[in-house]
Amino acid sequence: MNKPFEKIAVVGAGFLGTQIALLSAYSGYKVSVFDSKASAFDDTYKRLVTDFKNKKINPVIPWDKWDSLKQEISFSTDPAVALKNADLVVEAVFEDLEVKKNVFKLMGANAPAKAIFASNSSSMPISRMEAASGRPEKCINTHFYLPLQGMNMADLAPGTKTLPEVMEKGDAWIRSLGCVPLRVNKEILGFVFNSVWRAIKKQSLYMWGNDFADYRDIDRAWRIFTKTPFGPFSLMDSVGLDVVYDIEMVYYNHSKDPKDKPPDALLEKVKKGELGVKTGKGFYTYPNPEIQDPNFLNPNPKK
Ligand SMILES: NC(=O)c1ccc[n+]([C@@H]2O[C@H](COP(=O)([O-])OP(=O)(O)OC[C@H]3O[C@@H](n4cnc5c(N)ncnc54)[C@H](O)[C@@H]3O)[C@@H](O)[C@H]2O)c1
Repeated sequence: MNKPFEKIAVVGAGFLGTQIALLSAYSGYKVSVFDSKASAFDDTYKRLVTDFKNKKINPVIPWDKWDSLKQEISFSTDPAVALKNADLVVEAVFEDLEVKKNVFKLMGANAPAKAIFASNSSSMPISRMEAASGRPEKCINTHFYLPLQGMNMADLAPGTKTLPEVMEKGDAWIRSLGCVPLRVNKEILGFVFNSVWRAIKKQSLYMWGNDFADYRDIDRAWRIFTKTPFGPFSLMDSVGLDVVYDIEMVYYNHSKDPKDKPPDALLEKVKKGELGVKTGKGFYTYPNPEIQDPNFLNPNPKK
């Protein structure tokens, strides 16, 4: 398999950064991780294991490899240490433009000149962050979905000055992780598939937030329709309702269309700390969410 890089550095050891780090190590790359929070990588690793086991998800990386891969990955709260010798730096911090711009500046100051920079943003085009890096010609979006639970695809988008060979390396990197690159031809918030998923998510939130339907019935319908084990609301719980809220606000701040504003009820949940799987309560309660109850789709459940 074509491996375009030797060493990958991941910035942000949250839900996505940790998955990208593990998958990169599994695919044969040297991996280091930087997060400003010292316990971030350990905490997220434990959360991923618990979440996947609770949901009976069969991960892309076999369970017997997880602990040794984690040992291989180095973690540091010092960006100069974590980004040293990196060929590719993947940013996976909060979905907040100012935070991301600061991180791109920090990446520019700490990574070697050869390094390519990729953002895992779910919605923001790289053109919004590229200038802060000091090397816009080496910046791309590589937006992974939930790679360890089998969503093996990633959006790939250039910025305003990205060199063609940087796009080709991004393409080869995504493929080397066993993921399918989805090429964005023209800049769009949400890229290829998140903009499609967003239409479903937005309508689901609208229906629930305005009391048109119970969120469980929307998930039931989705499960029956798609034959998947999750629905829009349980998926939002996995993503994190704070992350979902931030993403929806990116769309709203872009369009200023009141129809794009996420429902107040979502903000209420975030304020109460009901963030989904990571806090034990979101739409469902964890570790045993109702959506996994064998009776969830039963038209005549036993009382
Ligand atoms: N959650 C998902 O399902 C999902 C899916 C695809 C893409 N994404 C995108 O991936 C990115 C990360 O999302 P997440 O869900 O992993 O977030 P998260 O909240 O789980 O983790 C973010 C991490 O970034 C760290 N961080 C924040 N600011 C930092 C800084 N200045 N320097 C270093 N570390 C910093 C935090 O300590 C935290 O560990 C976002 O852009 C999000 O939109 C998320």
